[in-house]
Amino acid sequence: MQNDRNLVNLALIGFMGTGKTSVGHLVAEHLNFEFLDTDELIQTATGRTIADIFAQDGEPAFRALEHRVVQELAGRRQTLISTGGGLPANQANLASLKNHSLVVCLWASPEKIWERVCHQTHRPLLHDPDPRAKIRELLAVREPYYKQADVLVNTDLRTLREVAHQVAHQYRLARSDH
Ligand code: S3P
Repeated sequence: MQNDRNLVNLALIGFMGTGKTSVGHLVAEHLNFEFLDTDELIQTATGRTIADIFAQDGEPAFRALEHRVVQELAGRRQTLISTGGGLPANQANLASLKNHSLVVCLWASPEKIWERVCHQTHRPLLHDPDPRAKIRELLAVREPYYKQADVLVNTDLRTLREVAHQVAHQYRLARSDH
């Protein structure tokens, strides 16, 4: 990692169902950081649900809102930023996060992701006749972006607490290197 990086925040990226929100809350507690979630920020700013934005305005409109939220995060300090699964699949979003955050990707295999999301209904991208194929397809497209994270943590065989400890540890290490 470059030595001149500014690591005042920690951003969690990764596919749907990798545990960003749950892990994010635990890590924020460990580090005494404020917790923010980009989907929640969008919902608060628009007064609408993500599902509604996708259904009424389409995915490009949602991605534009996501991009605006990322830009607004640039002034944050001591914040744990949990991001929507598709947010880093935009090089400008990733670059913006890297200006102020250690970017940590939570990784999971398509099988684990399916196990975790199959009983949930709130994600419009998984309302598909073949959601398992959709997961594999989206993961393949996004993998090159996820792998640009500063740290990759595999969540397949770890509990949420173990993942959170690992993420907080990596953040402390990165800070002490600077
Ligand atoms: C999306 C992931 C969702 C949400 C939206 C789109 C994606 O967030 O932003 O439904 O493109 O992967 P989570 O990753 O928190 O489920």
